[in-house]
Amino acid sequence: MALDEFLEELDRLTAEALLTFTAAGDAEALERARVEFLGARSGRLKNVQKSLANVDREDKPAAGKRFNDVKTAIESGFQDARQRLIASGPSAAETAGLDITLPGSRPRLGHVHPITRTIEDLKEIMGRLGFSVAAGPEVEDEWHNFEALNIPQSHPARDPLENFFLATAARHEPAAGNSPGGKGPSGSQGGDRPLLLRSQTSTVQIRVMEHAEPPVRIISLGRVYRPDTADATHYPMFHQIEGLLIDRHVTMADLKSVLRLFARSYFGGDVHIRFRPSFFPFTEPSVEVDMSWNDAWIEMGGAGMVDPNVLRAVGYDPDQVSGFAFGLGVERVCARRHQVTDIREFYKNDVRFLEQF
Ligand code: FA5
Repeated sequence: MALDEFLEELDRLTAEALLTFTAAGDAEALERARVEFLGARSGRLKNVQKSLANVDREDKPAAGKRFNDVKTAIESGFQDARQRLIASGPSAAETAGLDITLPGSRPRLGHVHPITRTIEDLKEIMGRLGFSVAAGPEVEDEWHNFEALNIPQSHPARDPLENFFLATAARHEPAAGNSPGGKGPSGSQGGDRPLLLRSQTSTVQIRVMEHAEPPVRIISLGRVYRPDTADATHYPMFHQIEGLLIDRHVTMADLKSVLRLFARSYFGGDVHIRFRPSFFPFTEPSVEVDMSWNDAWIEMGGAGMVDPNVLRAVGYDPDQVSGFAFGLGVERVCARRHQVTDIREFYKNDVRFLEQF
């Protein structure tokens, strides 16, 4: 085979290959073109390479060199076409069937639970009145839940059916957690102390006074537990806000002023407070606190002047200091403000309800 003939063949092949690669409109067409021209077994370039054997011996070096140049040119023509298709082709999102021009779906944002929100609001309001936050355990002993609060063994509030006593008792550590001047828990020489889930946040009053000297001005917010049947105003687990102020010459007028300021800050200006005579073993005198808002009265909690027996139990001198305490139901306060008529709604975990707050 003459060299000219061979070179002509190479030129034709180059022109055709580059034209076909350039014309390939999609990946499939380009792949077909690649197999046709660059296929390893019977591609057209391979066939031309085979015909190199027929070129005259003295022309072989020139023919071989030219063949290599052509091979490089066709291969780079294929790569160019491939890059062009990648650059102009559909994006990965489109290939996966996504239309990136459609509006996205909004991520669902969580909400703070309305009771948690109320607790934060109440802390903030009472903080402005100078009350700091104290905390106590939810698993309590009888000293803090009853005895130090002047609730004797015979009191109906200590009935096992009125409380969640735990099956396990705590080993008593003598004098632990009591002020040196106080009476301390009964049986303070040791022995097992029955434990229960606290039924009121008044336990924290005792825990604070055992460790602090007057003046004291604290609030405590947290869960309490009672085996009450759930209804529109009761739940077996609920939250209370406890307030305690101990100082010299504290009176019921101070109590009412603080509660009125508190209610007006939380509900707004149009709220009234009413005290009804009541009885709590740990306050004397004692009152029920009702609040009226939008023309309806609702019982929010109990309050009163701290009983001298309680002050003595924690080592305070009732002739030197006096104080008031109050305990309100957080669910009821929150329900009243948001016109929720059934506090069970707070614990159904129905997102449609919770999302409203
Ligand atoms: C007490 O728990 C006293 N410790 C309050 C107190 C503190 C009085 C300091 C004096 C001095 P009472 O049992 O009434 O009181 O409960 C207080 C409030 O908790 C009630 O008025 C009510 O708002 C709320 N409450 C009581 N039981 C439930 C319940 N099962 N579910 C939801 N809220 C309740």
